[in-house]
Formats: sequence, structure tokens, C-alpha cells
Amino acid sequence: MVRWRLAATALLAIFLTVLKGGAFVVAEEEQTCSGIVPMKNRGEVVSITDFGGVGDGRTLNTAAFKSAVFHIEQRKVPEGSLLYIPAGVWLTEAFNLTSHMTLFLAEGAVIKATQDTVNWPLIHPLPSYGRGRELPGGRYMSLIHGNGLQDVTITGENGTIDGQGDVWWNMWRQKTLPFTRPNLLELMHSTDIIISNVVFRDSPFWNIHPVYCSNVVVKNVTILAPYDSPNTDGVDPDSSLNVCIEDCYISTGDDLVAVKSGWDEYGIAYARPSSGIIVRRLTGSSPFAGFAVGSETSGGIENILAENLNIFKTGVGIHIKTNSGRGGFIKNITISDVNLSNVRKGLRIAGNVGDHPDDRYDPNALPVVDGLTIKNVWGVRIQQPGSIQGIKNSPFTQIHLSNVKLDVASPRGVAWACADVSGGALDVQPSPCAELTITNGMSFRSGAL
Ligand SMILES: *[C@@H]1O[C@H](CO)[C@@H](O)[C@H](O)[C@H]1NC(C)=O
Ligand SMILES: *[C@@H]1O[C@H](CO)[C@@H](O)[C@H](O)[C@H]1NC(C)=O
Ligand SMILES: *[C@@H]1O[C@H](CO)[C@@H](O)[C@H](O)[C@H]1NC(C)=O
Ligand SMILES: *[C@@H]1O[C@H](CO)[C@@H](O)[C@H](O)[C@H]1NC(C)=O
Ligand SMILES: *[C@@H]1O[C@H](CO)[C@@H](O)[C@H](O)[C@H]1NC(C)=O
Repeated sequence: MVRWRLAATALLAIFLTVLKGGAFVVAEEEQTCSGIVPMKNRGEVVSITDFGGVGDGRTLNTAAFKSAVFHIEQRKVPEGSLLYIPAGVWLTEAFNLTSHMTLFLAEGAVIKATQDTVNWPLIHPLPSYGRGRELPGGRYMSLIHGNGLQDVTITGENGTIDGQGDVWWNMWRQKTLPFTRPNLLELMHSTDIIISNVVFRDSPFWNIHPVYCSNVVVKNVTILAPYDSPNTDGVDPDSSLNVCIEDCYISTGDDLVAVKSGWDEYGIAYARPSSGIIVRRLTGSSPFAGFAVGSETSGGIENILAENLNIFKTGVGIHIKTNSGRGGFIKNITISDVNLSNVRKGLRIAGNVGDHPDDRYDPNALPVVDGLTIKNVWGVRIQQPGSIQGIKNSPFTQIHLSNVKLDVASPRGVAWACADVSGGALDVQPSPCAELTITNGMSFRSGAL
């Protein structure tokens, strides 16, 4: 198994690289979160076939997955256990993971969700949402689920977790869903998680949902769903601390990455922020946002870094969204080194986006949006540069744009639209709205990438 390098420090480490020819060159080490959560060499390897699994694409393997996980839970091997999924198509209903385990998908292995939506297990709503995200009441359990776990790895040789989501998307389209659709992978109250070198495909709803988690690394993962598949968000870190998403390719029907923290009065009461989220080297396409914060932000969102994003054929390149009734805060967000191509709107920061769980929300619970830095953004074939719409009684403050160069395709679409916002702009094209001024005390780093 790959031994991951120690995490790079905050500053770019400069080191000497020896080339084959013996010449020395100075190179910049790529920043990475690898090693933040140590990759374990497990004390035991078991295969799904040891538990009666049949990878013929027709046999239901729910019992095999459950007894494999039960075995791992009971044996408590000191370094934990690896559950090997060989090449083949392993049809299953939803199942739980346990602590100290690696789920390893070999090359050609596909864990495939059953399309039997009738017998799909239901679980309680999240306390920070108060109800299912789509419909009142409980929600369907994720295909692969974990609650209260520690030290879990999902990895392999580019094997696939396939949600076969089209039955769910059709129920959504026909408005026949009884409850909120299942995520493909949800981990609740869990810590020390690695998800790497796997493909997530056709999730019924959001793909990867770490909620109330800490120390999560999502690395080198591919997430695919049709452009028109409803709500198939890529990765949604939710009320979680220290989540790193890097080197991922995500093309789905909704936001590629959306940082969240609970919904209106339920999220305010639960008060669990998302903090320490890093998104790095993300490539992909979406009809909605490339990188998003919100709109569920009621527990607060702070200390977020998103860098080296490559976003094409997308609705909104960067979307920071919240609403009256959300409360909470969005603070200290840095987004830098972004390439946008063929994007409807480059940047949108908005205080009027998103629906409410019920009519018990407090319309006076206004979010605080303060300290957003967006720099080194390069866009081609952009329809509109964007908009920054604060909230009248809670204007957005310290919104700083620097070196943002958007090549706007249509001459009619050149203007930025702003309201209830203050901050600064330096080297912004098309020229920024008047609300963003160059003020004393504003410090921008130079525009070099
Ligand atoms: C998953 O684990 C929970 C306990 O954490 C249990 O209540 C539930 O029945 C399990 N679900 C399945 C499908 O095994
Ligand atoms: C990324 O995943 C692919 C497919 O599993 C694998 O071949 C490659 O080695 C991985 N890269 C890293 C840096 O782990
Ligand atoms: C992993 O699988 C995805 C989806 O099939 C594919 O696009 C990607 O190129 C594969 N990666 C590697 C390294 O084989
Ligand atoms: C702001 O967030 C960054 C991470 O993007 C973090 O390194 C820094 O310490 C935070 N600043 C403050 C004042 O908390
Ligand atoms: C953006 O595009 C330029 C030119 O194609 C390329 O050099 C740079 O690496 C890209 N940056 C990112 C973050 O993908």
C-alpha cells in the first residue's frame, strides 16, 4: 500500500530534486494533506467472498457485507481489518461500516446499489436539519453508512461505488418520493477518515457527506453523475472540522463541493460549525456551482481555503450562498488560483438563496458574512462576471477581490451587480462595482499565481 508523505507545512517547501541525468533543479513541492490521517497497514485481510459474497451483478450481497463488517467489529484485530472487494459487480442494499477498517475496491470491483427503493432503510433526520433535506420526516440511510466511527479508509484501485440513482431521480422528477433520497456515502460523528482512489457514480442524492466529523481526507477520487441528475452534489462537508478534498475530478448535476453547517433554527440550535476545510486541485463541471459555501450555513462556516480549481461548463464558478433565517456566519474564506471556462456567472455571493425547513424559522436570524478573499481568478467564455448581494440589515464586510480577470462573452453582460457589501477590489476585470473600493489597510498579495 502507498505510504503517504508527511503533510507539507503551510508554506511551500523548496527542495532540491535530483533528475535522472544527475542535474539539480529547484522545485516547489506540491502541497498536500496526505499523511494528515495516517494510512494503516491492517492486521488482517478478509474478502467479501469469505462471507458468501457473489459478484455476478444479480445476487444480493447485503448479508455478506453485514457479516463481514460484523466479523471485523467482533475480532478487533489490533491494526484493524481490510475488507477486499475483488473484481466483479457486488449488488447490495445499504450497509454500515465499523471502526478500524479499510474497504478496498480492487480494479474492476463495483459495489452496486439495489434499485429496490421500497425496502430501503430509513434513519432519523440530522439534528442540525430538523427533518430530511427534501421532505419532512426521516430520510433514507446512505448506501454506505457510518456513525460514531474512528479510523476508516475507503480506497482501492479505482473500483466503483455505483448508486444506480436513476430510479431515485425519476421519483424526484415525478414527485413520488416519500422521504429524502439517500446519500451514496455518509459518515456521521466519525474521525480519521480517508477516501481515496475510488470512483463514485450515479448517487441517488449527494455523493459524499461527512457530517459532525473531523480529520477527513478525500483524495484522488472521481465522482460522476449526469449533468441533469438532481441534487447529486459531489462532496458536502457539513458541520465538520479539518476536511481536506484534493486531486479530485467531479462532474455531477449539482455543486461539486459545498461546505455546509445545518439548516435555519435547527442548525442554529445545534451550533456545530464547519472549519478548517481545504479544497485543492479540483477539476470538473456542473450546471450549478463549482465551489460553494452554503446555503445551509446556520452552525457557522470559517477558515476555508479553496485553491487551484479548474472549472468548466458550469453555472456559477464560485457560489457563496446564505439567507435570512439561517443565522450563523461565513468568515475567513480564501479562494485562489481558479480557472473558469464556459461559465454562466463567474462569482456569486448572495444573501437571498435557499429554502427553509418550515415556517418556524426566525426571519431576523441574519447571517454574518465577513472576510472573503478571492484572488487570481482567470475566466474565459464567461456570460456574466457576477454579483454580490448582501443583506440590508447585515451587509457583507471585508469582501476582497484581487487579480480577477473574466473574459465576458456578451457585451450586454459585462457589469457586476452589488448591494449591501463593502470591501475592496484590485485588478478586477470587468471593472468592479463601486461598492468595492481600494481602502487603506487593505493588503493584497501580488497577483502572481
Ligand atoms: C446501522 O447501524 C445502526 C446503529 O448505528 C443500526 O441502528 C442500523 O440498524 C444499522 N443499519 C443497517 C442497515 O445495518
Ligand atoms: C490515483 O488513483 C489512481 C486510480 O486508482 C491510481 O492509479 C493513482 O496511483 C492514484 N494516485 C495517487 C497519487 O494516489
Ligand atoms: C478511474 O476511473 C474513472 C472512471 O471510470 C476514469 O475516468 C479514470 O480515468 C480512472 N483513473 C485511472 C487512473 O485509471
Ligand atoms: C483563516 O483561515 C485559514 C485557512 O484558510 C487559517 O490558516 C487561518 O489561521 C485563519 N485565520 C484566522 C484569523 O483564524
Ligand atoms: C489555468 O490555466 C493555465 C493556462 O492554461 C494553466 O497554466 C494553469 O495551470 C491553470 N491553473 C489551474 C488552477 O488549473
